[in-house]
Amino acid sequence: MAEAAGDKTLVRYAVAEGIGVITIDNPPVNALGPGVRDGIIAALTQGEADPSVKAMVMIGAGRSFIAGADIRQFGKPRPTPQQRAYELIDAGSKPVVAAIHGYALGGGLEHALACHYRIAVANAKVGLPEVLIGILPGGGGTQRLPRLVGPKKAMELIISGRHVPAPEAKALGIIDEIVGGSDLLAEAIAYAKRVAGVRPLPRVRDKEDRLAEAKADPGMFDAMRTAIARRARNQKAPYHCIACVEAAVKLPFDEGIDLERRLFAELENSEEAKALRYAFFAEREVAKIPGLPKDLAVPEVKTAAVVGAGTMGGGIAMSFADFDFPVKLLDLTPEALDKGMRRIRDTYAVSVKRGSLAQEEMDKRLALIEPVDSYAAIADCDAVIEAVFEVLPVKKEVFAKLDAAMKPGALLFSNTSALDIDAIAGATRRPEAVAGTHFFVPANVMKTFEVVDGTKTAPATLAAAMKLGRAIGKISAYAGNCDGFVANRTRIPFNLEQGLMVEEGATPEQVDKVMVAFGYPAGPFAVNDMSGLDISYETRKRRAAGDPNYRGQPIPDRLVEMGRLGQKTGAGWYRYEKGDRTPISDPEVHRVIKEVAREKGFHQRAFDDEEILRRLLFSSVNEACKILEEGKALRASDIDVMWLNGFGFPRYRGGLMYWADQIGARDIYNQIAIWHQRYGARWEPSRLLKQLAEQGGLLREAKGDSAKLRRG
Ligand code: 3HC
Repeated sequence: MAEAAGDKTLVRYAVAEGIGVITIDNPPVNALGPGVRDGIIAALTQGEADPSVKAMVMIGAGRSFIAGADIRQFGKPRPTPQQRAYELIDAGSKPVVAAIHGYALGGGLEHALACHYRIAVANAKVGLPEVLIGILPGGGGTQRLPRLVGPKKAMELIISGRHVPAPEAKALGIIDEIVGGSDLLAEAIAYAKRVAGVRPLPRVRDKEDRLAEAKADPGMFDAMRTAIARRARNQKAPYHCIACVEAAVKLPFDEGIDLERRLFAELENSEEAKALRYAFFAEREVAKIPGLPKDLAVPEVKTAAVVGAGTMGGGIAMSFADFDFPVKLLDLTPEALDKGMRRIRDTYAVSVKRGSLAQEEMDKRLALIEPVDSYAAIADCDAVIEAVFEVLPVKKEVFAKLDAAMKPGALLFSNTSALDIDAIAGATRRPEAVAGTHFFVPANVMKTFEVVDGTKTAPATLAAAMKLGRAIGKISAYAGNCDGFVANRTRIPFNLEQGLMVEEGATPEQVDKVMVAFGYPAGPFAVNDMSGLDISYETRKRRAAGDPNYRGQPIPDRLVEMGRLGQKTGAGWYRYEKGDRTPISDPEVHRVIKEVAREKGFHQRAFDDEEILRRLLFSSVNEACKILEEGKALRASDIDVMWLNGFGFPRYRGGLMYWADQIGARDIYNQIAIWHQRYGARWEPSRLLKQLAEQGGLLREAKGDSAKLRRG
């Protein structure tokens, strides 16, 4: 064993069979934290200087190669490096082989791209995901990747940030060889010995042939700018990525690197990068439930069933199949089952037609969903998710049946979006095994997965539900048991203000324009038209029947009564041409608004855009604070995660509470206090908000009240 280099514990250097082996060992993902970069440089220097060493291998210990720069270091002052591993490898006289397993992402892939050869095991993934945290690949990735895969593909990979599976990376030219996974180090050493004598050393920086593609298609960069204009609205990073790839084509390598460094530095502390970094860590924090015993035995869920083959149940079953998870879909009539399975098949078929899913993959997923028509047929499953009508007596009846049918130890989850989990659990003799698992619509697409903690839910049940969500690609988030739980409860005031502002004189077009400019993919009224106005209409009718003081929404009621149910009837808040989903402003809607306002005596006035934005979002911020105050959520940042993944809140704004901090608790509180005076009880300021306004502190760092939290 040769002498250790750099920080001994982070990067090890040893010589085996004349090959210098550099092992990065910085758990959990070998991020290039302080000490790691220097350790790699020291090891490369040592290998270069040792005459007995003919070639080198760079490999990761543990579960990955290198997942990238240490994101926690961004935004903090740090010295400009005197030397970079990339430059050292380019200037070196011995071949370096990157041996990749797990992930080679960001700076990790950039280290590999600077190596002369890259080999990987078949299930490894590579990518440059920097754009997802608001920056760009700053270690030469924007200059080297286009030289391997061509500028067009490089732009696609860098702007999407997607993880490319090794076989695809091999086909693209990023990986030289896929090797068996049983002993990657041995494979890498053998490979290094094979290439040890090859000269000249194949340096990616010297490759020019793939860049020629841009000469034949010089418009590709502007075409990409146009193509991303909608989704990259208000953001800088994707455009800077394009500028760097363009530089790779138009400038000598070193000048391209200079530009990359300059633009990287410009982005590192941008507002979008800060917000996206926050979102990255918030999405990891949300998985943690404080206070659960460390040695908790979490029941394993290997088989699952879904009760109810409606739209929701079908979407949930697809979520399982999409992640290779066998699932039974239960409904009691052959018609309901047939219809449910047809809907699933049709949904998959649309993806196949669009080219986003292969036919074989569709067939494989369909085969994982087994339609069954009796409770006995699901009795053996480890967990069941109920997705029947959102009516408490119906749910209770289903849970009583599940309790009777399911094997001992099976977990019983409800996909209710608002009903009392304790009441549902009360219908069983195993309330400790009951929790809520709230999927968003459409269940197979949306990532937010609220896990609702009932009074009697056992810690193991809760942990199993959180884990199950992650196993099917969702972001599991804890919610206490209260009306609407956390996500919908924070969203309801937004929906209410949206309707009220139209009564008061704002137009649906203006509200939608404000929210699209803010960064939502579509405005809330256009979204209402997509989902259909009839569902909330029915809910309002039901509520009004049970509550004489219920304040209805006469404008959408009138639209529904006119047959304007949204896109499906060609008209709602907007009108639609046949076969086209583009909302078109409709004078008829303005007439209806004016007519209802006159009949009801609503005073109408002009709104400015900022007032619209603030009224919508402040109402939700206030509710979020009340939820924390009641101990129904663990952390404000969990609420942000739910908004990012459940409601289309623009990710580069961090989330509802992160955004609110940009305005500040004090200003928000002052405005809410004024609206409380003007509009009454619904704007009563939360105590937590008041406290933060008076004492200072960040909304995004607020935690659920520990005296009231069930966990923590
Ligand atoms: N920096 C710091 N911490 C990181 C990290 C990174 N690059 N990547 C992961 N972590 C941390 C996570 O925060 C988490 O910490 P925790 O346990 O304390 O919560 C832990 O590592 C495990 O991460 P995950 O829970 O995400 O583990 P998964 O196995 O689910 O996913 C992964 C692994 C796909 C590697 C995922 O962690 C990931 O996407 N990481 C970020 C990759 C990335 O963005 N790389 C580019 C960085 S920027 C860069 O390289 C700039 C360069 O161009 C100069």
